[in-house]
Amino acid sequence: QNELNKNLPLAGKKVLVTAGPTYEAIDPVRFIGNHSSGKMGFAIADRLADLGAEVTLVAGPTAQKATNRYIYRIDVTSANEMLDACLTAFPDADACVMSAAVADYTPVEVASQKIKKQESSLNIDLKKTTDILKTLGEIKRTNQVLIGFALETENEEQYAIDKLNKKNLDLIILNSLNDNGAGFKGDTNKITMIDRQLNKSVFDLKSKAEVAADISNKLIELLNR
Ligand code: CTP
Ligand code: CA
Repeated sequence: QNELNKNLPLAGKKVLVTAGPTYEAIDPVRFIGNHSSGKMGFAIADRLADLGAEVTLVAGPTAQKATNRYIYRIDVTSANEMLDACLTAFPDADACVMSAAVADYTPVEVASQKIKKQESSLNIDLKKTTDILKTLGEIKRTNQVLIGFALETENEEQYAIDKLNKKNLDLIILNSLNDNGAGFKGDTNKITMIDRQLNKSVFDLKSKAEVAADISNKLIELLNR
């Protein structure tokens, strides 16, 4: 840990951050994934570390690199590996920001050999993954801050509030796809934050670095409550 950082607002605080997609293997050469770039989660990890936090960053497959050298990074591939890494790190953490785009479904079986094409169609049986954030919400201590994301295309705020409640979160960050430039791959994002008291803050379209700063400020406020 950075000895010079004792006066920073998050000095001595441990934060678990997740980022990127997960890949769910179908066979040795194929997987089910999504378009998450990991940029938002890495920006959050960097900002929190810059503010003095001891950050554990659990990253799915991504090309991103953290710039802050005090970040402890754990690379994972699947939702199940991410779950294991989070269950290990969470008990020690003061806060967790779950920004990964975790796959909701994973193949029931992983074929041991490459699946050869045969019929005109192929069905792959999928089963639900464990909801990592909900699991952390169930084991959360009252002094731990748990932050989740919600990506919605309709009834945005209501669905986000439903997730806040169902997963026992302190804050939900609604990612708006409505504005051009916001979303998965780009360098900007438009968010709305809703806390447990249903205080709502709507933010403008900003760079992911600026969004990470807004989220970090709110995290500090929640830790100091
Ligand atoms: N999440 C998770 N584990 C999963 C699925 C989602 O931890 N297996 C987390 C995400 O990291 C995010 C939050 O749950 O912080 C919300 O993810 P989202 O996909 O918006 O919601 P879901 O609960 O998966 O519901 P749905 O996809 O049906 O909207
Ligand atoms: Ca989902």
